[in-house]
Amino acid sequence: MSHESTYQPKPGLERWMDDRLPIVRMGADFLAMPTPRNLNYFYTFGGILTFCLIVQLVTGIVLAMHYKPSAAEAFASVEHIMRDVNWGWLLRYTHAVGASMFFIAVYIHIARGMYYGSYKQPREILWILGVLIFLLMMATAFMGYTLVWGQMSFWGVTVITNLFSAIPFVGESIVQWLWGNFAVADSTLNRFFALHYLLPFAILGCVGLHIWALHVTGSNNPQGVEVKSGSDTLPFHPYYTVKDMFALAVFCIVFAWFVFQVPNYLGHTDNYNQANPLSTPAHIVPEWYFLPFYAILRAIPDKLGGVIAMFGSIAILFFLPWLDRSRIKSAKYRPMYKWFFWLFAFVVCCLGYLGAKPAEGIYVTLSQLCTAYYFAHFLIILPFLGIIEKPGNVPVSITESVLGKDGAGGTPDGAAAAPETR
Ligand code: HEM
Repeated sequence: MSHESTYQPKPGLERWMDDRLPIVRMGADFLAMPTPRNLNYFYTFGGILTFCLIVQLVTGIVLAMHYKPSAAEAFASVEHIMRDVNWGWLLRYTHAVGASMFFIAVYIHIARGMYYGSYKQPREILWILGVLIFLLMMATAFMGYTLVWGQMSFWGVTVITNLFSAIPFVGESIVQWLWGNFAVADSTLNRFFALHYLLPFAILGCVGLHIWALHVTGSNNPQGVEVKSGSDTLPFHPYYTVKDMFALAVFCIVFAWFVFQVPNYLGHTDNYNQANPLSTPAHIVPEWYFLPFYAILRAIPDKLGGVIAMFGSIAILFFLPWLDRSRIKSAKYRPMYKWFFWLFAFVVCCLGYLGAKPAEGIYVTLSQLCTAYYFAHFLIILPFLGIIEKPGNVPVSITESVLGKDGAGGTPDGAAAAPETR
């Protein structure tokens, strides 16, 4: 929510600067932003994601100083980074594990938004920008994985780019245009490198818009009721800067554990073999964060249908604010949606599991069932729930939900206030 500026520049340089480029005022207003007083730890993931983006940018730029984007040299240059470049192994592992950590954080961030109904009015644009960031993240990660030029890089890009050939009439031409050749080759690697370097800056721009939109509407919160008075909020600093820092420290411990103890756990061993166009790996599997969408792709027996379903499963997120017809935001006060939310999360995990299995027998049938449920969640369950669900007792205000009706620290139903809401 936009708020009146309380920044008072000191006479001299500060005032001079403020009259010309009020950038210090912007920072001060950002820190003073009135923020709902009941945000829990799920609200620290936006900050964590910003950290992940910076880590990927910094490590990526230094890696690019040593990497060679050519089919003849790429694989060896990655080994050169690992063995010869000072701290090269740390840079590369931080960047590779960083991609996984980024996706873990973004999936938690998206799930939080779905649970508390943060995509609803007035935050539709904030949500749409988020989905756009998610798409850009997927494109960036996909192209980055190609750069290693290992077996899984090569065959992954071959399978995914070939999907476009399913488009009637122009499909073949599109695929050759993507490759810059008649097969996945040096030209493909080169353009993927250029785009992998570019897209993170597009993400950065979208994150700027995302946070701008957040500052216009203000944060939603676990109760899903809008801010009504000053007592519903706290200044962002020091309350949430400290909370964000603590969560970030815990996140960094997990991140460091992966980097230093099991840096290859989330990757595939086949990618330590150099790309060989003459030998197809037994199973071509994408990185873990793409698996649910890969399962949807393979669930449909028709190639074009699979491509439409896969892209549709992401595109449908853009329409979520209008598919969910309920007036109530938070799942806390939606007794039926709460269960459907967890069922949906379970189905997405099942799709992830199935995406890693060979596309045969029972795995295909289960993928089809889960894919059908995935779409039914958005197209049937959400619109329908809005009509039939009887909502719980939504608190009148955030303050009431934290301090109780009498404002003395009891919850609305008279019990002691839960520590998480303090
Ligand atoms: C690089 C990726 C991203 C960054 C850096 C980022 C950053 C942030 C930040 C700093 C916040 C405020 C703090 C918080 O609520 O956690 C936020 C809120 C939000 N983000 Fe993101 N975000 C990213 C991706 C996404 C994606 C992929 C989506 C959805 C598809 C999304 C949807 C939202 C929504 C709906 C809110 C408002 C939440 C609320 O007020 O309850 N974000 N984001």
